[in-house]
Amino acid sequence: MDGKALAKRVRQNAAAKVDRIRQATGVTAALATVLVGNDPSSATYVRMKRKRCEDAGMKSLCVELPEDSTTQQVVAEIQELGQDPAVHGILVQHPVPKPIDKRAAFEAIPIEKDVDGVTSGTLGRVILGMPSFVACTPAGIVALLREYNVEFDGAHAVVIGRSPILGRPMASMLINAHATVTLCHSRTRSLPDIIRGADVLIAAVGKPRFVQGEWLKPGVVVVDAGYNPGNIGDVDFDEAVKVASMITPVPGGVGPMTIATLIDQTADAAARQLGLNL
Ligand SMILES: NC(=O)c1ccc[n+]([C@@H]2O[C@H](COP(=O)([O-])OP(=O)(O)OC[C@H]3O[C@@H](n4cnc5c(N)ncnc54)[C@H](OP(=O)(O)O)[C@@H]3O)[C@@H](O)[C@H]2O)c1
Repeated sequence: MDGKALAKRVRQNAAAKVDRIRQATGVTAALATVLVGNDPSSATYVRMKRKRCEDAGMKSLCVELPEDSTTQQVVAEIQELGQDPAVHGILVQHPVPKPIDKRAAFEAIPIEKDVDGVTSGTLGRVILGMPSFVACTPAGIVALLREYNVEFDGAHAVVIGRSPILGRPMASMLINAHATVTLCHSRTRSLPDIIRGADVLIAAVGKPRFVQGEWLKPGVVVVDAGYNPGNIGDVDFDEAVKVASMITPVPGGVGPMTIATLIDQTADAAARQLGLNL
């Protein structure tokens, strides 16, 4: 499944929305990114996101805070962005330095600007199937699976990983799409046996080549959300590709869809805040 190709179309569509917003209101949609500390990969991710924003005609604002910032300082900065009418979406790049309470930082984002889908309010809405922004990675995955006409209704979907930004919203979205979902994590017993029952497998573990080809049922659809150092996914691609009916590559699968979803949700956030129905 070619995430790069679909992501390009999603970004083009978002750029058209940004254009319509500007023509209708004179306002340019804007995403604020908050980067705390000196983690080089986080800085790279923020740069990539800002570039994609600008490519789509949006404004991108970056608030950089020092490594030794306190939770209070980070929360205060986010609250200020939350109140700024010129900012339509807020992304707090994670991980943040250890002493900072990440949850407190996320919860400072107003739900209408939570374009990265990280607040408890957003996750609650996703679980209940209410209209909402969604964490970008699972939203991108669902869009990619729909693009390839993957059947969810009645399918057994296995999700490996239960993080609040990936595994949990992923499982909820699949349940809402009428899949039967098994959510696995580090305490799960007999994981290979569970995976063998999957019609759709989402790997979000954070361990290089963790999922073995021999664990897969022939014809399974495999989504590899993993992004480990050296561009290595969570699935042993070379083995899995022999068994799966469809599979996402790493890179070029889930990653581009995540950023495209962020751009698209920011355009939607701007439209909503400006009272437009695009
Ligand atoms: N492409 C993208 O845009 C994108 C975006 C976000 C993340 N990612 C990638 O996706 C992966 C997961 O990210 P994340 O933020 O969700 O990671 P995370 O917060 O570290 O969560 C990892 C999950 O995997 C589970 N796990 C760990 N070892 C396991 C094992 N041996 N068996 C079964 N489950 C196990 C953990 O279980 P416990 O809960 O029990 O600890 C946890 O729920 C990473 O590779 C990350 O780089 C990619």
